[in-house]
Amino acid sequence: MLFWRVKPLDKIIETAEKKALKRQLGAFQLTMLGIGAIIGTGIFVLTAEAGQKAGPAMMIAFVIAAVVCALAALAYSELASMVPVSGSAYTYTYGVMGEAMAWTVGWALVLEYAVAAGAVSVGWSGYMNGLLASAGMELPLALRTGPMDGGAFNLLAFLIALTVTALLVIGTSKSAKVNAILVLIKVVALAAFIVIAVPAAKDVNFEPFFPTGWGSPLGGIGVLGAAASIFFAYVGFDAVSTAAEETENPNRNIPIGLIGSLAVCTIFYMLVGYGAVGSIGAQPMFDANGVAFHPGTPELAAACAGSEALVCSKEPLAHVLKMLGFAGWGNAIGLAAALALPSVVLMMIYGQTRIFFTMSRDGLLPESLSKVHPKFHTPHVITMITGVFVSLFAAMFPVGILADISNSGTLFAFIAVAAAVMILRVKDPDRRRPFKTPMVWVVCPLAIAGCLLLFLNLSMYTIGMFFGWAAIGAVVYVSYGYRRSHLANGT
Ligand code: ALA
Repeated sequence: MLFWRVKPLDKIIETAEKKALKRQLGAFQLTMLGIGAIIGTGIFVLTAEAGQKAGPAMMIAFVIAAVVCALAALAYSELASMVPVSGSAYTYTYGVMGEAMAWTVGWALVLEYAVAAGAVSVGWSGYMNGLLASAGMELPLALRTGPMDGGAFNLLAFLIALTVTALLVIGTSKSAKVNAILVLIKVVALAAFIVIAVPAAKDVNFEPFFPTGWGSPLGGIGVLGAAASIFFAYVGFDAVSTAAEETENPNRNIPIGLIGSLAVCTIFYMLVGYGAVGSIGAQPMFDANGVAFHPGTPELAAACAGSEALVCSKEPLAHVLKMLGFAGWGNAIGLAAALALPSVVLMMIYGQTRIFFTMSRDGLLPESLSKVHPKFHTPHVITMITGVFVSLFAAMFPVGILADISNSGTLFAFIAVAAAVMILRVKDPDRRRPFKTPMVWVVCPLAIAGCLLLFLNLSMYTIGMFFGWAAIGAVVYVSYGYRRSHLANGT
């Protein structure tokens, strides 16, 4: 079963060449694309969630998540440089573990990309609502957040996702230039935060350091629970590999883009986490029995009413600076987030459309979806469909829940990629590998173990959603892709 309907790697590369996208991205643009996809709602918003789950020990969660991502990135780079075509984990799995597994991974990637786009849109709305409030133009609560967060319809999150979709329909290269400017804004904003918050750190703010302990499987709380959530802050480096078909000299540039962007972001996150905890503290909110509330619940929203705690803020980095007496800089960070987070939404929807594009080119989804626009050269049909769904998730769900669900799909895909690297080393040892995962028999098993550890520390709710989504995917595959697959039909 595992090796059934495997699409030969040479054939994958050949199919891609037949219906190709234009190669126009270089190493620098790719690294910028990676940083553009990585720095976003995770660091700007989920810092508060991580604090609620782990308190000051969220700093350890940042390290754990970075290590897991670095291991996964080393595995990703080997496959991305060997099979430089769109579709990332989906494509690699097709070439190594067969169609059923590839479908499952592709379906999980919808969580990674589309749901993440929703999460980042909600994160953006938190900062934007903060800015509007500072300007005395606050929206009514019903339009500020979705129903689980005390509102009814998150209007701004909905609108930003639609706007970004329109940009993507117009074209990649224009969007990539805008992305470069926005990356610069994010990096400057985080640097400003570090410069102000780090020197303000006080020992007392680190006590107690482990208020919720390490956490337990399916518990979604504690240091491991926080790591499973903050993992979101690092996700996106693999979006680089989804652009492989549009990259010049992908064998060299893809690994540079993946690992380079991850390394830059990790350094920034360590310092931001230290600054946030050290300057104003990050103790969780507890119920009457001394149990920490789960993020994204109405109970936490109620306990947070009127609180200035870091864990209650929807714009935590801006909030820290305001608490430290730098209100102007707080607003500036808010403005930077408001300007820059849409570039992350862009990368995520972009990644999603390229994966759907590849799946439809393979016949697993209707071919009409992979139509390329005659003037803009973009897969406009699938982009618009994806955009509408993302906008709706964004309008209805809290950021933490979307981020955790997205993580479940990403972790699953990373496990598949690390497994594919090892299988391919055995099955096809002589194939050219422009980038080889160092110490592959250590790195790949550790990547799998790390992803599994984080997956199990998501909440029961999130894991339930993951398996529910996988079940829907299985039905779609059996009733459509299984029969229409180009590989099965020899077309
Ligand atoms: N890493 C991206 C973010 O934090 C998805 O927004």
